[in-house]
Amino acid sequence: MSYQEIYKRSMEDPEGFWGDAAADIDWYKTWDKVLDDSNVPFYRWFVGGELNTCHNALDRHVEGGRGDQLALIHDSPVTNSRTTFTYRELRDVVAKVAGAMAALGVGKGDRVIVYMPMIPEAAIAMLACARIGAIHSVVFGGFAAKELATRIDDSKPKLIVSASCGIEGSKVIPYKPLLDESIDLSAHKPDHTMIFQRPQAQAALQSGRDVDWQQSVAAAAPADCVPVAATDPLYILYTSGTTGIPKGVVRDNGGHAVAMKWSMKNIYNVAPGDVFWAASDVGWVVGHSYIVYAPLLHGATTIMFEGKPVGTPDPGAFWRVISEHNVKVLFTAPTAFRAIKREDPEAEYLKKYDMSGFRALFLAGERCDPDTLAWAQNTLKVPVVDHWWQTETGWGIAANCLGIEQLPIKPGSPTVCVPGYDVQILDENGNVEAPGEIGRIMIKLPMPPGCLPTLWQNDDRFVESYLSAQEGYYLTGDAGYKDEDGYLWIMSRIDDIINVAGHRLSTGGMEEVLASHPDVAECAVIGVADKLKGELPVGLVVLKSGVNREDEAIVGELVSLVRQKIGPVAAFKKVTIVERLPKTRSGKILRGTMKKIADSESFKMPATIDDPAILDEITEALIRIGYAVKQ
Ligand code: COA
Ligand code: AMP
Repeated sequence: MSYQEIYKRSMEDPEGFWGDAAADIDWYKTWDKVLDDSNVPFYRWFVGGELNTCHNALDRHVEGGRGDQLALIHDSPVTNSRTTFTYRELRDVVAKVAGAMAALGVGKGDRVIVYMPMIPEAAIAMLACARIGAIHSVVFGGFAAKELATRIDDSKPKLIVSASCGIEGSKVIPYKPLLDESIDLSAHKPDHTMIFQRPQAQAALQSGRDVDWQQSVAAAAPADCVPVAATDPLYILYTSGTTGIPKGVVRDNGGHAVAMKWSMKNIYNVAPGDVFWAASDVGWVVGHSYIVYAPLLHGATTIMFEGKPVGTPDPGAFWRVISEHNVKVLFTAPTAFRAIKREDPEAEYLKKYDMSGFRALFLAGERCDPDTLAWAQNTLKVPVVDHWWQTETGWGIAANCLGIEQLPIKPGSPTVCVPGYDVQILDENGNVEAPGEIGRIMIKLPMPPGCLPTLWQNDDRFVESYLSAQEGYYLTGDAGYKDEDGYLWIMSRIDDIINVAGHRLSTGGMEEVLASHPDVAECAVIGVADKLKGELPVGLVVLKSGVNREDEAIVGELVSLVRQKIGPVAAFKKVTIVERLPKTRSGKILRGTMKKIADSESFKMPATIDDPAILDEITEALIRIGYAVKQ
């Protein structure tokens, strides 16, 4: 069937469409209803159904004859090691870890925070939670203790699973001191932590609270899969909102399993037994969906890569992994390819490797600039698919679904709506925009299985953040347009979220940190264009009157404050001190205009600006830190 036919069916008969897809999942009890719309705007998929996600990801394949096939390959240039797990080995170790968690009192519905580097134990801990019906919440390692503390207080975990250290390039980063600090900072205290000791650093354990992963797993009895409701949460994943308080995106078990499994064949054109590699981090949604769950639900082999696209040891790292493990499809962020292209523009390193098994590259996480797309296409000579999605949906909203039908690629566009998603461009009054006209990108409810049913214990914030802009629609937070052929073009965010090296960050959150400095009267953080990372945050700060310390000292303190409160991942390194900030007459800071100045783009003088002369001062201040040009 063509893309058009499949898409049409998904729109006209969503229950038939997703009911059929759900037949590819093992259920303990079949659902009563595919789509429950009795409590709009809250939609629920597969109500009444019971399943276990870990059973579908592991046990089912062992029982079905894939026991000796590789399930997971950990490739770690930073420790110079490769570790593999067959489906049987992975099931057995996950069952033991689940048993160790159960012995610590963790059961169905309890929360477990996973704060781990890119080691197999991170995926094992996630699957172990799924096995016993516990809800995991993975926190990315590059966040600071305070961010972790916020997530501890919101999710109230019984257990936190962590490791003694992460390895970032050549740096060993001890995790335990950060974890201890975050538990000190949080009001909620977990009963236990379970620490995986790595040889590169030993963590000191606090007796009574902290247990050693290796010892407790060795002593544990394996735990079986527990049936859970399709609508029970599988995980919570916190993502940046417009304030410093992150949003706890909830993922259910049933809809998620169905969507993940369906996407592997239909979007990525991957078959069970193929090797699939998502070069991301388990702390991000891409890692949840496409390092852990989707490839395993599909019976494929997944790769966990503990390294970087460049510097571990060279820009040939991706090609080595692809050829060494016979990767069929790679999924990463455009920033990774920009990094490789910058160091090896002629792709000399590629010549050393046999890439004959490689079929397609998928990119997401940020807009893929046409230059990077063209470079990847010319270098790899396979389809390069930019696809668009977000933490909230958990899988692609727009893509070129290679497993259905490859549509012509238009550089700069993530192609068309994935079946199940009714994406509309609406104007401020809720009318559908004509082709080519930019507007708010919205998804007509109900969204397909796998998308967030709500925010963790916060239905009100869910409705307020996503569903209140336009009745019957989900607000994606992106702006863009559809062209005459129905292709989507994602142009910018309509809120204060920026994308730094494919990582989603809130400038509002950074402003809150800057404003907490005793010398700061007022501030603004904007995302400015960066050739490598896509965007970088830049702070503009007004000091309190009477402050007469050296600017340089204050700037240094502000940079380290953001690193300390949000984390190194924010890549916040540029601050400039200004006399005042440009505002509208009603007092709104003109961040969009400052961004245009920083990016040396032309802009229209805002009609409501209080005092246009301020813009010259802002230009000067940005020039001092390497941005903007004199107009
Ligand atoms: N634990 C601790 N610190 C971490 C970390 C982790 N898991 N991940 C990143 N950091 C730190 C880095 O060490 C760096 O610190 P520094 O300021 O001391 O150098 C900082 O956070 C920023 O990291 P990163 O954004 O990774 O930048 P980089 O300069 O080290 O590397 C790229 C640049 C482009 C190579 C890198 O960003 C990359 O590979 N991106 C791929 C994108 C990706 O995976 N996106 C996920 C969504 S698909
Ligand atoms: P995250 O939740 O971290 O996955 O970030 C989601 C946001 O990243 C989206 O709302 C977009 O702003 C941006 N994004 C992700 N993929 C793309 C893409 N292919 N093109 C343009 N923007 C993207």
